Amino acid sequence: MHSAWVGIEEQGKPGLNQLFMKDFYGMWLAHKKDPSKYPELARIRDDNGDGMIEVNRPEEIDALLAATAAHLKATAFPMNARRLVYVSDDRKYTSGAAFEVLPMEPHEASPYASVYKYSHNVLPARAALGAKGCTDCHAYQSVFFEGRNLQRPFDENGASVWLANHEVIGLSKIQVRLGALREATLKPALHFVLCLLALVGAGIAVRILLRRLGSFPAAKARRAGWVAAGLGLLALAASAWSPRLLSYMTFDRFTLDANHFWISLVVLAGAALLAISLSPGVRKSTLMWALIVAALTGALMIGGIWWLSYTLFDTAVLLLAALLVLESARILIKGDENLGFLR
Ligand code: HEC
Repeated sequence: MHSAWVGIEEQGKPGLNQLFMKDFYGMWLAHKKDPSKYPELARIRDDNGDGMIEVNRPEEIDALLAATAAHLKATAFPMNARRLVYVSDDRKYTSGAAFEVLPMEPHEASPYASVYKYSHNVLPARAALGAKGCTDCHAYQSVFFEGRNLQRPFDENGASVWLANHEVIGLSKIQVRLGALREATLKPALHFVLCLLALVGAGIAVRILLRRLGSFPAAKARRAGWVAAGLGLLALAASAWSPRLLSYMTFDRFTLDANHFWISLVVLAGAALLAISLSPGVRKSTLMWALIVAALTGALMIGGIWWLSYTLFDTAVLLLAALLVLESARILIKGDENLGFLR
């Protein structure tokens, strides 16, 4: 561990203190906002072109110590009987020109390497589990659930005994697997099916617009609808080459997961409207059954009553979305004479 930081030496006390993060950060922030504040800091440069400044040359060390001293003075930080030093590994600089070598063990790079970083190892929020959506945890071979946890360092034969994390928190394997199936397969499938629904819907919209506003002949308008939906499909297929671009242009997984309630609600509402408009038959009863399952499991889910309710709910929603796509594709394909609203 190598370390470089500003320390505070106290008269008569062993060891060094570390400057507070808020002071160090506050000083740099003030300088970045207004370069006339702590202007010495401008002398600290990126000498090796790696994109990160380094405090290595004597004048840079002097600049950092002077700016820090000025900032502590400005914030009325008590500095009597204290002195600022710059520590780089085992060197303790009292100025750019003068350093003392700190005693350390031969295997150490710095006697202070175990000092926490200024961030004391708190990672930024975007690195948190869940920041990229539910699959950060609920995924196949998820480190979170399937990762190893040491139960006993050695058994009778000297081998280590490991448990999967989900065993430690008392979650069954089937629950973990179903969770992965739901988040890593069912939900992406739902999002894909909703893309298809949007494309077929766009095709139908093109047809209606041409027919109603453009007074196109029926056959031409119908074909234009197919072409629009087909082009959309091609674009969707092409975007599969770069899924990150697609999520950048539309919604990322986090946004989709965060809005799953509304996405599901729209699918349920669409399916309910379709169920009402269909005449009795296999299609209608399939829709009705899926709606009933979704309504029941949805209620259980909101009540937090049955763990399987989530997975069943999402399965029902996926089925309903698929039925919606099939029905809209039917409309896209049908001739005007079969469609009341186009005749
Ligand atoms: C940090 C990891 C983590 C993230 C991210 C996460 N979960 Fe979970 N999830 C858990 C844990 C741990 C449990 C088990 C909790 C318990 O048993 O009390 C759980 C349980 C569940 C369960 C009940 C068990 C099952 O799998 O059927 C559901 C449903 C669930 N999570 C859905 C979600 C959804 C939806 C998201 C995204 C919005 C999400 N989780 C994000 C860790 C996570």
